[in-house]
Amino acid sequence: MNVLGVESSCDETSVAIISNDELKANLISSQDFHSKYGGVVPELSSRAHLQIVTPLVKNALEKSKLKLEDIDIVCATAGPGLIGALLVGLTFAKGLAFSLGKIFIPVNHIEGHIYSGFLMEEKPEFPYLAVVVSGGHTLLLLVRSFTEIIRLGSTVDDAAGEAFDKVAKMLGMGYPGGPKIQKASLNGDRNKIDFPVADLKDPYNFSFSGLKTAVLRYIQKNFPDKNIPEVEINNIAASFQYAVIRALIKNTSKALENYEVSSISLVGGVAANSEIRKSFIDLAEKKGKKIIIPALEFCGDNAAMIAFTGQKLFEAGKRYRNDYAPFPALPEGLYSGL
Ligand code: KG4
Ligand code: ZN
Repeated sequence: MNVLGVESSCDETSVAIISNDELKANLISSQDFHSKYGGVVPELSSRAHLQIVTPLVKNALEKSKLKLEDIDIVCATAGPGLIGALLVGLTFAKGLAFSLGKIFIPVNHIEGHIYSGFLMEEKPEFPYLAVVVSGGHTLLLLVRSFTEIIRLGSTVDDAAGEAFDKVAKMLGMGYPGGPKIQKASLNGDRNKIDFPVADLKDPYNFSFSGLKTAVLRYIQKNFPDKNIPEVEINNIAASFQYAVIRALIKNTSKALENYEVSSISLVGGVAANSEIRKSFIDLAEKKGKKIIIPALEFCGDNAAMIAFTGQKLFEAGKRYRNDYAPFPALPEGLYSGL
C-alpha cells in the first residue's frame, strides 16, 4: 500500500510517502521569512503553501520511485491550525484523491504528533503516555491504541512552545524562539533564577502564563532600560527552560504513579529541545520505562506523521465521507481539551 500525506497547518509545507510501511520520502519546506515579522503571518503562509505543495508532491513521488497512479490513499492535516494554511493542503489532497479515484483520509494534526514516535526504529508500546509539546498545545495523554486516546491534562493557558517563543521575544531573540532559547541556555546557569512552576489543583494540567509573567517582571525589575548583558540573557534562558522542564517532568511523574504504561513518548516541536529530551530520558530510566522521542525531522511539523496516522486510521476502518465534519473529531476526552 502506498500512502501520500500532506501537512500545511502552519509554516511548514510537507509531503511524505509511506510505501508498504516504509517511509520513502518526508520533504519539509519551512517558511523562514516569517522571522522578520516576529511570528507567522497567516496570509503569507497560505500563499507559500500554494506555491510549494505541487512541486513537493512531484519530488516526493520521484524520490519514492512511484507515479501518482500508484498512490492508494491520500491523507492530509485537517486541523487544528491556521485555516487558510490548512485549506491549501487539505483541498489540494482531497482534490488529488478525488481525481485519482482514491481514498482520502483527513488527519488531526495533534494525532499525527501523538503517533510520530512510530516513525522511529524503536516504537512506543501501548498503552503509553504521550507528552505533546508544540507551539499550540501542551497535552498529557494516555494512548491506548491508534483509535483510543485519553486526555489526562492540558495547558490551562499558554502552550509550552508559545512560552518559549514569547520569552525569546522578551530577550530580543526573534521567532521561532525555542531553538534560540536552547542555544543561549547552553552558556547559562539554570539555577541562577528560581522561576516558578505552577501548582494546579489538577496535577496533570499545565500553566505557563505565570512563568512567562515572572520572566517579564524579572527583566523589568533588573534591566529597566531593556539592556540585558549576554551573560544575563543566557541565565534567564537557562532558568526559564529549566522551569518548563520541571513542570513537564512533575506532571509526567505523577501520571506514571497512577497509570500503568510501558512507554513514554515525548512529541511535538518542543521535543526537539536537547535539555528536555535529556530530562525525559533520565526520567524514563529512573522509572524503568521505554522512552521514544522522535528524531528532529519528526518533532516539528511533518507529513510523515500525517501519512502514518492516516494509514492507521484507514486500517482501523475509518473512511472519509462527504457528510463528515470538515475537521475530524478527536476521540472522546481529547477533543474537549483542544
Ligand atoms: O509542533 P510544532 O512544529 O508546531 C505546532 O504544531 O505548533 O512546534 C513549534 C514550536 C515553536 O513554539 C518552537 O519555538 C518550538 O516548537 N521549538 C522548540 C525547539 N524547536 C522548536 N522549543 C524549544 N526548544 C527547541 N529546540
Ligand atoms: Zn505541530
